[in-house]
Amino acid sequence: MLYETRGPFRSLVDAKAGAVDRSIYADDDIYQLELERIFARAWNFMCHESQIPKAGDFFLSFIGEESVIATRDKKGELQVLLNSCRHRGNAVCRAESGNARSFLCTYHGWTYGLDGSLIGVPGYKDFYHEQLDKSQWGLVKAGKVASYKGFVFATMDPEAPDLEEYLGEVGRMGIDLIAERGKDLVAVEGVQKSIIGCNWKLAVDNLFDFYHPQISHASATMSGFRKQVDKLNAEERELAAKAGIAGGSGVGRPHRVVFGAYGHCVGGPRLTPEIRAIRTQLADKIDSLIDDDFRDWPQAQEALGEVGIDTSGHPNIFPNLWVASQGSQLSLRLPKGPGRTEIWWFTFIDKAATEKRQKDRVERGNHVFGAAGLLEQDDGENWDQSTRAMRGVIARRYPLNFAMGSGHDEVKVASNTAYVDGPINEHAQLWTYRSWADWMDADSWAALKQNHTVPPEAGARP
Ligand code: FES
Ligand code: FE
Repeated sequence: MLYETRGPFRSLVDAKAGAVDRSIYADDDIYQLELERIFARAWNFMCHESQIPKAGDFFLSFIGEESVIATRDKKGELQVLLNSCRHRGNAVCRAESGNARSFLCTYHGWTYGLDGSLIGVPGYKDFYHEQLDKSQWGLVKAGKVASYKGFVFATMDPEAPDLEEYLGEVGRMGIDLIAERGKDLVAVEGVQKSIIGCNWKLAVDNLFDFYHPQISHASATMSGFRKQVDKLNAEERELAAKAGIAGGSGVGRPHRVVFGAYGHCVGGPRLTPEIRAIRTQLADKIDSLIDDDFRDWPQAQEALGEVGIDTSGHPNIFPNLWVASQGSQLSLRLPKGPGRTEIWWFTFIDKAATEKRQKDRVERGNHVFGAAGLLEQDDGENWDQSTRAMRGVIARRYPLNFAMGSGHDEVKVASNTAYVDGPINEHAQLWTYRSWADWMDADSWAALKQNHTVPPEAGARP
């Protein structure tokens, strides 16, 4: 049976009816358990290797609400360390990024090496009588640290499966959709950060949502802030209509949702070979606006496989990493309480691409999403209002509806990957919440490995 009841959190996500209980966005106990059972257990995205290329380079990131230092030790090995001194808990690193030889705590001066080991204690001889076992008081280290194609992740839980196994076909596809987009991909310096008054899951759920743009972003579109893209989309639609091809850019385009284990998912438009051929006809105009030509590169085709190569929707690497593949950006939705989320935007450029294309990517990175992005201002306002309402004692009696498309689209499986093609739907959102319930119901990695929802079989109707 595709849907079954397994535990208390499963009862808050009624996958059959497509209904989700509002308490999951507002309840403080649920939020605290998310920090424990999801963030302290999952592989969390830290940074890109190009942000810490040399020994001593560091970048401050988060696991749940906790500050961690992603760094390279003297041997060049990646390390992820909890940014909290073992003496009184003070942060040992305050700068967001930089290069260091060691981390000196500014409270009493305990000093830690790049691998987290405690290497200096003021008064070690006179005050501690040389009886402090320094080997036991290093910074807390991540259970596992690994990089997939230059994208660095860490988990605090040593029982977690290795990164590639955790990502599986769909998580890897998600990252491939950005990693294969450049021959020499690097992160642009600086990360855009802003706070939105919303629950982190609403920000994740929205990334799969292609139902809202025509309403939420109507004014942004009318302002003409992406005039060229709109013009190009119109030309694409016209050529598609002439050739009798369904869709073309925009709302009418066929959709694809790809289901992965542990909650990884991709949802959004499908880029069919026919539409790609039309884009090739428009290649001169399209060059730096919509750079999808990487799909013609043999290496990308091999990495993405037959399902991924046609997929141009948005991947979410569970729990909170959005691969905003259209813009060559990554966004983290960092929890800061049940009603607050810090949104981070990393922008990537391909050093091997033309200067114009690199410039256009950065410009797009500044004006579409992020604090100054017109679209994110529209989105944030909606998420804020939704989150406020979730706290209502009356509103909470009534679940939210995620039933769009339920039972209507048939699962296909190719290259070990389950997906559905169809019109706009909410399968990806519901998949994310079902998986969320699996994580919340499991009290260990062993339990989660045994009791997680596996991708549906061919012929199923999610
Ligand atoms: Fe860090 Fe005391 S808190 S040395
Ligand atoms: Fe939006």
